[in-house]
Amino acid sequence: MEGETEVAVSSRVALRSAGLGIHQGERRPVIGIANTASDLNPCNLPLNALAAEVRRGVLAAGGLPAVFPAMSLGEDLMKPTAMLYRNLLAMEIEEMIRSNPLDGIVLLANCDKTVPGMIMGAVSADIPTVVVTGGARPPATFQGRRIGTGTDLWRVWDQRRAGHLSDSDWSEFEAALSCGVGACNTMGTASTMAILCEVLGLALPGSATIPSGDPRAAEMARRAGEAAVRLVEAPVRPSSLLTRDAFSNAARVLSGIGGSTNAVIHLMAIAGRTRTGVTLEDIKGWFKGVPVIADVEPTGSGLVQDLDAAGGVPAVLEALAPHLELSTGSVGGESLAEVVARSHRSGSTVRDPREPLVPSDGLAVLYGSLAPSGAVVRLSTASSDLFEHTGTAVVFDSYQSMLDTIDDPALEIEPGNVLVLRGCGPVGGPGMPEWGMIPIPGYLARRGVTDMVRVSDARMSGTSFGTVVLHVAPEAAIGGPLALVASGDRIRLSVSAGSIDLLIGEEELARRRSSWRAPAFPDRRGWPALYREHVTQAPLGCDFDFLTAGDGGGFVEPVVGRS
Ligand code: FES
Repeated sequence: MEGETEVAVSSRVALRSAGLGIHQGERRPVIGIANTASDLNPCNLPLNALAAEVRRGVLAAGGLPAVFPAMSLGEDLMKPTAMLYRNLLAMEIEEMIRSNPLDGIVLLANCDKTVPGMIMGAVSADIPTVVVTGGARPPATFQGRRIGTGTDLWRVWDQRRAGHLSDSDWSEFEAALSCGVGACNTMGTASTMAILCEVLGLALPGSATIPSGDPRAAEMARRAGEAAVRLVEAPVRPSSLLTRDAFSNAARVLSGIGGSTNAVIHLMAIAGRTRTGVTLEDIKGWFKGVPVIADVEPTGSGLVQDLDAAGGVPAVLEALAPHLELSTGSVGGESLAEVVARSHRSGSTVRDPREPLVPSDGLAVLYGSLAPSGAVVRLSTASSDLFEHTGTAVVFDSYQSMLDTIDDPALEIEPGNVLVLRGCGPVGGPGMPEWGMIPIPGYLARRGVTDMVRVSDARMSGTSFGTVVLHVAPEAAIGGPLALVASGDRIRLSVSAGSIDLLIGEEELARRRSSWRAPAFPDRRGWPALYREHVTQAPLGCDFDFLTAGDGGGFVEPVVGRS
């Protein structure tokens, strides 16, 4: 951007033509503002207004703001799952940074996969980065009761399937849920990831829980723009913030808020872009001993708005301080210790850890003969009387076959059975759709059964609940033990032992393995084919094998000249 060559002139002309008044000899940092707002993703629509505020902040701090669109991954509309495209967004962000003369970047994200996807790309490019999230949507009201997004949909759908909800009530519920823009206001994946951004130090303290449309969001976005310019001057890059301590804090807070299981995959994917060497085994250890202190659905009864009123992430950090390493930093320039020092915890949504909402760890990583590489269960929304459970498997080979038969009384499913859904992992889905919360068979729901042990190589929505063992790895589609389970086998879940086991002999397992054949997939071209060829398993974050840090990857110095 500097100098008098025709290339420098051409670059300045391009920016000046776009309204960015850069002149010869000036050294103003160019801050990219990547905006994932889209009409196809109402969760991210608040970001348009925030982009304008970030731009103001960048200008006020002496930088040059360059807003550009990035693909929007909307959880509600994308099929089979937005997760299939998270790595595509990560590649888009990384390559936009690499190919344009950006000195720093502000990532505008909100819906589940937009947050980790953007961060993964920025971490690999390793330029100063600030994350701005769009906030939770307003609560809905149904029949006089305040309801949250996602969680209450699953609950009311269970009532509907059990025959307790009329057609008109069901229509009324649908109308009630259409309550505005912003992310799910329960502790789903979007809220969880926004909170973890703050804990990792990538978002300004106090920003993650501000609801969409709240005037504080505009102020926070302006400050994010200013911060991005400051970070370039320092410089502070993701590589200096994303330490092992930062990841351990994120995992511990994930347990303490009873966060989404999906966040485990995203944390592993982000960590995989660094040289921290974080493993799923590390996450397992970091979860231990951190009780759930956030009273937010689906674990509790509050919404993200209540968490914000209780003091937001600083209050959560203060409550969990004995479990955290508070010397880690933040894009705001403070350490977590300084954030905690000025936090204000009020009300009961953030509990005193001596009187937690749930005494067990929020989540657990399991290993065993059914999941040699690992699996994840959210304990905070599981039934404690199923923590130690052995049952007979009922196996579904695909999501469609499960939907077609789950309510058929001929299957004679009993509450003590273990429901198994396979073929839905990163390769099998593809993209590991959120199909893991297998519905309770209608005839059991009508008998009052509300939970059963379920096991899958799929994911489930962060707004979901139940005793669901997810992310079983290796997945069935590549021949993991899950592929070899037969209906009638015995499966044992033991939370105390941290295990999930298939109780059949080695000889029988070997016999089944010898006759197992890998499924043939129809995708021979395009993104699904590339995805299936290169996606890693859940314990490695479902990133692409050629994008993880490794030798020569991760924190690579961008090759273009800086302004
Ligand atoms: Fe977008 Fe929940 S569907 S945040």
